[in-house]
Amino acid sequence: MKQEKMLYLETFGCQMNVSDSEKIVALMKGIGYGRTEDPRQADLILLNTCSIRAKAEQRVYGHLGKFKSIKSRNPRLIIGVGGCVAQQEGERLLQKAPFVNLVFGTHNIHLLQEMVSGAERGERRIETDFIDDEKRFDLFPATDVEAGVTRFVTVMQGCDNFCSYCIVPHVRGREISRSAAKIVEEIRALAAAGVTEVTLLGQNVNSYGRGGADEPDFPGLLRMVAEVDGIERIRFTTSHPKDLSDTLVYCFSQINKLAPHIHLPAQSGSDRILKAMNRGYTRTEYLRKVALLKQACPEIQITGDIIVGFPGEDEAAFAETLTLLDEVGYADLFSFVYSPRPGTQAAELEDSTEYAVKQQRLDRLQQKQKRSTLELNRSLVGTVQQVLVEGASSTGDCLFGRTGGNRGTLLDGAPSLAGKVIPVRIVEGLQTLLKGEVLH
Ligand code: SAH
Ligand code: SF4
Ligand code: F3S
Repeated sequence: MKQEKMLYLETFGCQMNVSDSEKIVALMKGIGYGRTEDPRQADLILLNTCSIRAKAEQRVYGHLGKFKSIKSRNPRLIIGVGGCVAQQEGERLLQKAPFVNLVFGTHNIHLLQEMVSGAERGERRIETDFIDDEKRFDLFPATDVEAGVTRFVTVMQGCDNFCSYCIVPHVRGREISRSAAKIVEEIRALAAAGVTEVTLLGQNVNSYGRGGADEPDFPGLLRMVAEVDGIERIRFTTSHPKDLSDTLVYCFSQINKLAPHIHLPAQSGSDRILKAMNRGYTRTEYLRKVALLKQACPEIQITGDIIVGFPGEDEAAFAETLTLLDEVGYADLFSFVYSPRPGTQAAELEDSTEYAVKQQRLDRLQQKQKRSTLELNRSLVGTVQQVLVEGASSTGDCLFGRTGGNRGTLLDGAPSLAGKVIPVRIVEGLQTLLKGEVLH
């Protein structure tokens, strides 16, 4: 009997990569590759990479170093690198890591079957061309629909915003929206397979549908998705504040299935820095949208992203970011020290702030947010939240679910509750989790 070939796949970066990796697994299965968690058992190692910050990129080279020694013991091993570092580096990647067989860019996953088959015959290949039309979404065979509780559904890809610090428009290409009919068809299939929650995914979902004459805009798409029977909860990510229309804000009061949570990255609280970042909104405009959201949906939980230490950020500008946190009242925040990226506008800016100072600012910001997250989690004690049970907790001794506001919640109950939205009384608010009791 011929033994099954084995794929070891590692995924870095954002949900878009996680979603691409699902497609990669399905494609590799199509040419006879099962999965292994041990790279030493693999016939094929694929890395789906992220280049959002220099550290993410360095990690890829670190991992490749590890795989080089595995390959020296198993010369037939095929190593492929895809995703955003592959897109950015292309040919350079093969020069820096000559033992790599394949480099595939963010628009080239559909070529992977023939690339891997070629590599089995000893070929080396690089594919990093962009495909700038909607055809790209149709290049995959229908992926296996595995029943699960919650799934991501890509609605658009790419980004045209060119925030001055960001590599994404360079490595993901121009914005393309997928047809609403195809999105709804996919979500119907997911619902039929038992999925309860979908998260509509894109680098900038708010600008969904731009340009297509008979296509809905994003609020229109949300309404169509809300019609799908079996889907009880809808989320979306990521939103750009400048494209968050009032109509979209009102969806939070009008569409029951829309979960009361929005990820709305501000990046900075200083108008001068926002301008240098090319974000297209002011602090006041951002806060106006936050106020509208709270008005439309008083229980809404807002999360965000902040970059500290952008070139030109002084103590006064940083202080404005700290007060922004007070004014918004974020449930959670992802924050990073600015990392210059090749080819971006900001990489050319003069930057006189020492890294140690930036790191201190990051620590201050994170400490502050930690306190307000804990406060918020504690303030939920005694409330009743609608929790979508996702399954067993990571420790396996209770259930894990999420509130509408996206707070992770532990609760006791039967495993058969997985996939159900149930009322839960919150009994404890911890730093990163809530604990709750199922109401009977
Ligand atoms: N499309 C999303 C964000 C994608 S990147 C959006 O616009 O909101 C995720 C986060 O990484 C960004 O929100 C930003 O906070 C951070 N980020 C992006 N480029 C960065 C850089 N060069 N240095 C540090 N952080 C960065
Ligand atoms: Fe990057 Fe800005 Fe696009 Fe987000 S909106 S992906 S931060 S360029
Ligand atoms: Fe990283 Fe690419 Fe996503 S750079 S954050 S994996 S779009």
